[in-house]
Amino acid sequence: MRNIWRIISTTRELWPLFVGVTIGAVAITGTTILGPFIIARAIDTVVAMVQGSGGSLTELVWLAVAVLGASLANSILTNVTGYWGDMTSARLRVILSQRYYEKLMRLPQSYYDNELTGTIISRLNRSITAVTDFAKSFSNSLFPMLITIFAVLVISAIHSPWLAVMLVVIYPVFLLLTAMTSKRWQVWEHSKNEAYDIAGGRFAEVVGQMRVVKSFLAERHELERFDELYTSTIGTTAAQSRFWHLMDIARRGTLDLLFFGTFVIIFVQTANGTFSVGVMVLLIQLVEMARHPVASMSWLVDTTQRAITGSREYFTVMDEPDEPFTTLDTGRQLPWLAEDPVVEFDKVSFGYGDGDVLKDINLTIHKGERVAFVGESGGGKTTLVNLIMRLYPVERGAVLLRGNPIDTLPLSQVRSTVGTVFQDASLFSGTIRDNMAYGLEATDEQLREAARRANALGFISKLPKGFDTEIGERGIKLSGGQKQRISVARALLKDAPILILDEATSALDTKAERAVQAGLDELMVGRTTLIIAHRLSTISAVDRIVTLRDGRIDEVGSPAELAASGGIYAELLALQGSERKADKAKLRRFDIIR
Ligand SMILES: Nc1ncnc2c1ncn2[C@@H]1O[C@H](COP(=O)(O)OP(=O)(O)O)[C@@H](O)[C@H]1O
Ligand SMILES: [Mg+2]
Repeated sequence: MRNIWRIISTTRELWPLFVGVTIGAVAITGTTILGPFIIARAIDTVVAMVQGSGGSLTELVWLAVAVLGASLANSILTNVTGYWGDMTSARLRVILSQRYYEKLMRLPQSYYDNELTGTIISRLNRSITAVTDFAKSFSNSLFPMLITIFAVLVISAIHSPWLAVMLVVIYPVFLLLTAMTSKRWQVWEHSKNEAYDIAGGRFAEVVGQMRVVKSFLAERHELERFDELYTSTIGTTAAQSRFWHLMDIARRGTLDLLFFGTFVIIFVQTANGTFSVGVMVLLIQLVEMARHPVASMSWLVDTTQRAITGSREYFTVMDEPDEPFTTLDTGRQLPWLAEDPVVEFDKVSFGYGDGDVLKDINLTIHKGERVAFVGESGGGKTTLVNLIMRLYPVERGAVLLRGNPIDTLPLSQVRSTVGTVFQDASLFSGTIRDNMAYGLEATDEQLREAARRANALGFISKLPKGFDTEIGERGIKLSGGQKQRISVARALLKDAPILILDEATSALDTKAERAVQAGLDELMVGRTTLIIAHRLSTISAVDRIVTLRDGRIDEVGSPAELAASGGIYAELLALQGSERKADKAKLRRFDIIR
């Protein structure tokens, strides 16, 4: 409940709507309760006329008109309030989704390492639907219901204190019985949601990589996994629902007994002359009015419970710690403390949780330098460059960017300083233009120039729609080399002074690689570049090579120096011409193909 309150209290912009709905509910209740009163008057009038002790036809007609009026007013008020209720829930959905999305933007990379895309989406949809459904039923039914119950209590108290006492007992009993079932119900609900989330996560992943599924004939296997997860929720639902409905029988049985007592009181007191027939009818209608919501209360409790589970799941994500100095913070930039060195690692040790991947790294990279990293696959090369983008926080030692410790800089400053081209081109659906100018503004002229330098203009010009060609999800309609040249063009437009090339051409065939390499050569001009490459020929042209062994820096030196030092690089160079299986395997272990 606390979480639901948290949602209400943080959506102040919706308060006018909340208030409108509340007032509407009071008015609806007023007109609903008016009906039985008028009818009670009419019955007493009819009885008087039959007994010849007063009353008139005109009075009866007016009473009928009053019933009509109350009922029309009721219809109008119900629909106006219903409209406000719909608007409340629609706007609530927008606000909650926006906040969730914004939160996702603020979460650190480590969060995404541990969550599946589909899981995140499935959780978002479910939790927000639960909360907005609740808002809707709360405003459209729960509120009017609570007010009706209150009014019924007051009116019956005026006529018969006993009756009021009886009714007062009914609701707490109902709530108590509900509370007893709710805890267990929620545990089941949560475990079902987890199964849905896992299935949803897999679902999105599979749809996104359908080609792999098809090529490995894994359709059946994927279907079975999916079925398994979903089928498990049927068992859970069976237990959950059985329990819920058994408790509902108990609940309703108890209530029926209490209502039985209520009717006995009304009948007896009318028979002994305490109430007129009109009042009896009024009281019976009021009790019915009080009884009706109790029946629908089970459903409302259900909605409320889902909202409680949903809002808890929502806030589990919302309460995750932000990435410090998140990129969404307005781009205040700090002055750089030095022009040179551009990047410095000072006694950096780092791991993702279990064991260190990098140990005691000391390294200085100067302005304009090209530095290549060589090390075994899984040896921490990508990790090292991740730290320069501050995708993960460095806790032991320090990484300095132009003299500033990286964790003192706003993230936006860090990431606008570092450009990247990865092995996976990582494009988005949309046009080539959208992708090249991702996250920035670019004129047509700038687009063409970047495409030309990235060696991409040739193929783009041949496309019927040129820069406005839709490239499909992740750029699936382009070849690997084309995608990569677009990502080179994207990096050119970003124009960051530090460049990271992490196996930028390793997913490509030789021909495509040459095309992309031409673009990369252009991209590297005038930038400090860190290269993780899979060809010794690429590496031989750099200023310095850094070799990693067991998470530590082994050697640092120019290609010529390291070629003569007898270390890893020299060894790899010696192996590269070899046709021996063992030699080739060793090269591969170092992510080197020739
Ligand atoms: N996001 C991550 N979470 C946990 N462990 C990771 C993550 N990324 C990489 N690792 C681990 O860190 C080590 C170094 O990986 P990486 O830096 O990618 O190596 P390289 O790029 O040299 O092949 C590997 O053992 C890998 O399993
Ligand atoms: Mg890597």
